[in-house]
Amino acid sequence: MKVLKLLPVAYGIAALLAGSALAAEPARIDWSKVPASSLTLFYPGQSTYEWLRSKGHGGASKVAQGTACTQCHDESDAEQEKGDKLVKAGALEPAPVTGKNGSVKLNVQAAYDDKNAYVRVQWKTQNPFPGTEHQYLRFDGKEWKVYGYPKLDKVVQDGKQPGIYEDRFSIMIDDGKVKGFAQQGCWLTCHDGQRDSRNQFTKEEVAANPLLNAIKKTDVRKYLPDTRVDPSDWKTGKSVEEIAKLKADGKFVDLIQWRAHRSYPVGMADDGYVLEWRLSDAGKDMFASNADPKTHTPRFMWDEKKTGYKSINADQLRKGEHFLVREKNAVPFDPNANWKEGDMIPDYVVSREDAKGSAADNNAIADWKDGVWTVVLVRPLGLANPDDKTLKAGGVYNVGFAVHDDNITTRGHFVSFVKTLGIGAKADIQAVKLP
Ligand code: HEC
Repeated sequence: MKVLKLLPVAYGIAALLAGSALAAEPARIDWSKVPASSLTLFYPGQSTYEWLRSKGHGGASKVAQGTACTQCHDESDAEQEKGDKLVKAGALEPAPVTGKNGSVKLNVQAAYDDKNAYVRVQWKTQNPFPGTEHQYLRFDGKEWKVYGYPKLDKVVQDGKQPGIYEDRFSIMIDDGKVKGFAQQGCWLTCHDGQRDSRNQFTKEEVAANPLLNAIKKTDVRKYLPDTRVDPSDWKTGKSVEEIAKLKADGKFVDLIQWRAHRSYPVGMADDGYVLEWRLSDAGKDMFASNADPKTHTPRFMWDEKKTGYKSINADQLRKGEHFLVREKNAVPFDPNANWKEGDMIPDYVVSREDAKGSAADNNAIADWKDGVWTVVLVRPLGLANPDDKTLKAGGVYNVGFAVHDDNITTRGHFVSFVKTLGIGAKADIQAVKLP
């Protein structure tokens, strides 16, 4: 991939054997000269679009009219208080995670040059180690089964599985075309019925749903209100033709996720968007399932010649980095390699070389040091794909930030109220032009 060479990055010692970090930030940028904003991201519990418009929420009628959240929820330490309250058992949290933080401070800086926008974020992880582990395939003596689940899952809360899930940093971007996003941000996409949400979907409901059948999906994820006849009912999807029209009119939001296991080892962030579902951009992601859909055995294992091992076991978790990178340290799985109970191979295989098209637009350089993740997202300016928001000099965008910390997924993140990001233009977060 040529794009790597364009990056202002010191890749030097990156030398991935076990797929270690692509260390070093964009070396050319002196971040000490770039203004920083400190945001408080808070745990939202199940504060869905529908809950916000229900009797349970003090601001319901105003929210229904489209009033901005920050009209009532100010920028002081209220976010921290809200998070501390919402992370505990209560009306908006039926499955509290013991000991979880209620909020996280996110330091945000932004810059741009002729080619790219650079968004640098930093946050302190709750754990004294980075969340680079993700789920495994584990041999139980007979079969390979998924090992490790996110901490909102019942199997983890019941102590039947360990909590294992990657850290993530996400940014949602609107260019002003999505009605209400400037006022209510990410909350437009978060609905009852979704995974881990209030009234979570049933398999039968999904199987009977015309829209989800048409787009071949087996669960309910983020969607924008305009894609449903009744925005508060995920089952009332519009036709694929109507949704295609919304997409052509730019009425979707971009969703970029930097993933500490599935994109970090190859210096990338994924590229997706939210419209009728949380979708990946066209092309191919930098990560893929490592389970053979027919046999459920792994597709790849570590290349012992490069790593010194074919698999790990639970004792090695959190000790070093355990990325399976197709072009660096992986070989096809050998079913006759004398596997023993407890052998573990990552459930995902990562590849920069295999990532293609619009899904492969975003690079990211990250580093975890002294308990803090620093991620520099590199987003090309001027993208013209039909599933991208085009960033350009002079543009102002509505953005929402999220951090998934401590082995969690779905709504178990910390989120921000909507902010503006200006590429050399006046905004809450102003990307400065690099010399
Ligand atoms: C018209 C004012 C108003 C608006 C607009 C408003 N809220 Fe609220 N919100 C309230 C009040 C009042 C409460 C209850 C007081 C409290 O507990 O802090 C509340 C509580 C909450 C809570 C629960 C916090 C807790 O402490 O229990 C969340 C989460 C929340 N609002 C999110 C939002 C979001 C997201 C938006 C924008 C989509 C929004 N609110 C818009 C007035 C408003």
